[in-house]
Amino acid sequence: MHILILGAAAGGGFPQWNANNAQCQRARAADPMVPPQTQSSVAVSLDGQQWCLFNASPDLRQQINDNPQLHPRADGPVRQSPIRSVVLTNADVDHVAGLLNLRESQPFSLFATARVQATLRANSIFNVLNPDFVTRKETQLDREFSPLPGLTVTAFAVPGKVALYLEDPAAEGFGTMAGDTVGLEVCETASGRRFYYIPGCARVDDALRARLAGAALLLFDGTLFTDEEMIVAGEGIKTGTRMGHIAMSGPEGSLAALADIAVEQKLYIHINNTNPVLMRDSDARRQIVDAGWGIAMDGMEISL
Ligand code: MLT
Ligand code: MN
Repeated sequence: MHILILGAAAGGGFPQWNANNAQCQRARAADPMVPPQTQSSVAVSLDGQQWCLFNASPDLRQQINDNPQLHPRADGPVRQSPIRSVVLTNADVDHVAGLLNLRESQPFSLFATARVQATLRANSIFNVLNPDFVTRKETQLDREFSPLPGLTVTAFAVPGKVALYLEDPAAEGFGTMAGDTVGLEVCETASGRRFYYIPGCARVDDALRARLAGAALLLFDGTLFTDEEMIVAGEGIKTGTRMGHIAMSGPEGSLAALADIAVEQKLYIHINNTNPVLMRDSDARRQIVDAGWGIAMDGMEISL
């Protein structure tokens, strides 16, 4: 199984357009210790020829151009793409806006839960995905589907939150319902090797820990290092908890909650522009590396 990190940053990317913190400044200054990152997406293939995207970020056009694996083949027809399918984990802007880059009547399958498909249907701009070519498929929680031959994916509920632009301030949990945010189990059917892609998760419970045991790889929500970092930095008014993202550090954080799970490789992904782990020379980065974690980076390739 080939896994390509298309984008390791959270919504807004790194540096974010209006963020002027020290690490965004270093990234803009091309500091080699602080490389820029595009927004949250990975691509998966078994044969290197046919690819499935997990989430479609606003940076997808750049991500395709930066990764030759996703280019049309030189010896093929004049209109073609190796992208066969897209699977969504929620309807957040950073995960769906890239679908607009995939117009132009190119066939592919688009997998998402009923809640996320309903959100796409309600936003008429996505009608640029010509239904004669793009097949929208509703996934059921905890039921396998196959976005590529030989690849089995299962979407499962994780604690999280409905997309920001769909929040109902008067409703409990801002109106979040099952299927608004999912994790994905991705399995090479023949070998049984599996990995998990969970870019948004508010809490780690025993059920999630049990599910992850034995996986070859975990790509997990690395939005924030500390729950209050955006408030402390004066860059926002929300905690990670309020945004539906567990922080890395602290007694309730993912470093502690996932310390002893039996997973071969653990990488944080969906990293916010305020998170100090984006700086290779930060204490926070050292702490997560010492705890056995890595950081996903744009262009990283992993073979399982
Ligand atoms: C999130 O991950 O919480 C969202 O992408 C936030 C946003 O829509 O900006
Ligand atoms: Mn996001």
